[in-house]
Amino acid sequence: MTTEQKLLQIKDLRTHFFTENGVVRAVDGVSFDIPVGKTLGVLGESGCGKSVTGYAILQLINSPGRIVGGEVLFEREKNGRKEVVDLLKYGARSEEIRQIRGNEIAMIFQEPMTSLDPLFTIGDQLAEAVLVHQKVSKRSAMDRAAELLDKVRLPQARDLLTKYPHQLSGGMRQRVMIAMALTGHPRLLIADEPTTALDVTTEAQILELMRSLQEEFGMAILFITHDLGVIAEMAESVVVMYMGKVVEKTDIQTLFENPKHPYTKALLESIPKIGHKQEGPLHTIEGMVPSPFDIPRGCSFHPRCSQFMAGVCDEAVPAETFLEDTHSVRCYLYSKQAEGDSNGNRT
Ligand SMILES: Nc1ncnc2c1ncn2[C@@H]1O[C@H](COP(=O)(O)OP(=O)(O)O)[C@@H](O)[C@H]1O
Ligand SMILES: [Mg+2]
Repeated sequence: MTTEQKLLQIKDLRTHFFTENGVVRAVDGVSFDIPVGKTLGVLGESGCGKSVTGYAILQLINSPGRIVGGEVLFEREKNGRKEVVDLLKYGARSEEIRQIRGNEIAMIFQEPMTSLDPLFTIGDQLAEAVLVHQKVSKRSAMDRAAELLDKVRLPQARDLLTKYPHQLSGGMRQRVMIAMALTGHPRLLIADEPTTALDVTTEAQILELMRSLQEEFGMAILFITHDLGVIAEMAESVVVMYMGKVVEKTDIQTLFENPKHPYTKALLESIPKIGHKQEGPLHTIEGMVPSPFDIPRGCSFHPRCSQFMAGVCDEAVPAETFLEDTHSVRCYLYSKQAEGDSNGNRT
């Protein structure tokens, strides 16, 4: 891991929502790295802070949310020179962060309909995205738009340029969004559940497309999903999130073969195994996800954990413990060490 060039390093990122009902610590001390050209998966159940992490990287957090701490170190390439900058030092509306959004870091979402304007044709929207990045005529921008549709393997690109978003299927719209993301040749693509709204066949095609475009463009991908099957297809390494924190980090093979955190294990037990006859009903994780306003003290998974140790797990947040260079876990089963008390969970 140390020899790998890091494109993005997130350090102790904290993003909280200050709502009328209280503070939601949506992202509360998240750290991970994304190597150049590789795919890091972010895995966890709904509401654990995956999307907020993705948005915070580009400072797309709106009120009542606020990034309250941390660093987002990004290796920029400017005029052939590389420099590492903390994106959070740029204001959310600064010229620099606007330059980075779409150009150096692009984002795609679960539902492309929310990012496409229903009133404009695919051609107009793609050409406009091209014009943001390149000073070319409208006609050349349209040509480039057609090339991009070709790249994402949409047939009859010319014809498609004249269509409106609602005339396309979900899979086609997601291809258009990927084409749009590619206009600036980003070094990092943040993909937030990009195939969750699609049927399995279309999903498989989009994942295959993303892999081949990644190879062609050499971009890194932050792949956010709740789906273990999709993670297995896409990611080289994974961070598992639970209630705003990373509970386990590892490479993809270890995730499936030697998971350590009881939460990760429970997630894995909740999926059917190919080639294994299912004995009895599928395991589901005990208990409910706690209210985000009332995150359990200590390890936030403790009320649902089958290996809960009273007086230990419900006291302080466990520290990140490295089992190997590329495998860490926050769990008292592996180390009794608690995190420094900067997290506010101690009294
Ligand atoms: N605008 C908001 N206002 C208040 N709470 C929010 C807002 N956006 C997200 N949250 C809360 O932040 C937490 C993490 O949300 P999110 O990152 O969207 O989860 P995930 O993507 O993992 O499903 C959730 O508890 C969610 O309710
Ligand atoms: Mg989400």
